[in-house]
Amino acid sequence: MTRPAILAHGGAGAPNEDSDGPLAACEHAATFLVDGQPDGALRAVIEAAVILENDERFNAGTGANYRLDGSLQMDAILATSDGRIGSVAAIERVRNPIRVARLVIDSPHVMLCGDGATQFAHTRGIADDPPLTDKARKRMEAALERLKSGEVRPTEQKWRGKDMHGTIGAVARAADGTFAVSCSTGGTSMMLRGRVGDSPIFGAGVMCGPAGAVCATGDGEEIIRRLASMRVYMRIEQGDHPQAACEAVVKEIPAPYTVGFIAVSKDAHGMSATADKMARGAKELT
Ligand code: GLY
Repeated sequence: MTRPAILAHGGAGAPNEDSDGPLAACEHAATFLVDGQPDGALRAVIEAAVILENDERFNAGTGANYRLDGSLQMDAILATSDGRIGSVAAIERVRNPIRVARLVIDSPHVMLCGDGATQFAHTRGIADDPPLTDKARKRMEAALERLKSGEVRPTEQKWRGKDMHGTIGAVARAADGTFAVSCSTGGTSMMLRGRVGDSPIFGAGVMCGPAGAVCATGDGEEIIRRLASMRVYMRIEQGDHPQAACEAVVKEIPAPYTVGFIAVSKDAHGMSATADKMARGAKELT
């Protein structure tokens, strides 16, 4: 029998001291991975993501970043090793975008975005409940100040501006040998309304297939350019240990970019981030 495992992260750059969040998410979600639980891997990564979306310390759901125009739009995705994908981009006024991604899996589509995604959520019974927080509003105000003063960070030069990314995510291997991945984000600290990052894009923000599951976090534009999760996955498929695969792709994306990956394969798992900074957790069942 396969040994179930789940890994979760609270975003590349999120302090390692906040790892109690992803660890608690893994502890709770692992209960779905034991033998006999229908769709255990998918349920586990959803439950892990909901816990992290509800934790204000992390940039997803409650705690998600505001856009520079003061609006709040979020991205999320779910994928399974049997080929199901559900994704939402630039969705508004929902507390748990990952639950909307789950509804998309059962729709005829793979991805919904903007007003259409928000309307879909509300008509399918998800509450109209914008997860605005004072902390995220203050982050946006600080970003606007940096823009005005010109004192931008190295990765903010194009705005000049974007930094405080952060994302949450989980990868799981269930007792039946299936895999799933979840990912949810409020994007970066400086974003135009309508900007979509890597997180809801299959192959970029996440990858899942018969060889395992991968979730990325960090500078979204750079992760998209490099199809980074696909790169980690292909290394695993070719026989690399997930730890070596994550470390190799982190190295391929040099400073000033910040990235991180968590990954599970049939019999191992791994996680790595720029400067080793990423709130993270893992739980393997015997
Ligand atoms: N990785 C999150 C984002 O760039 O949107």
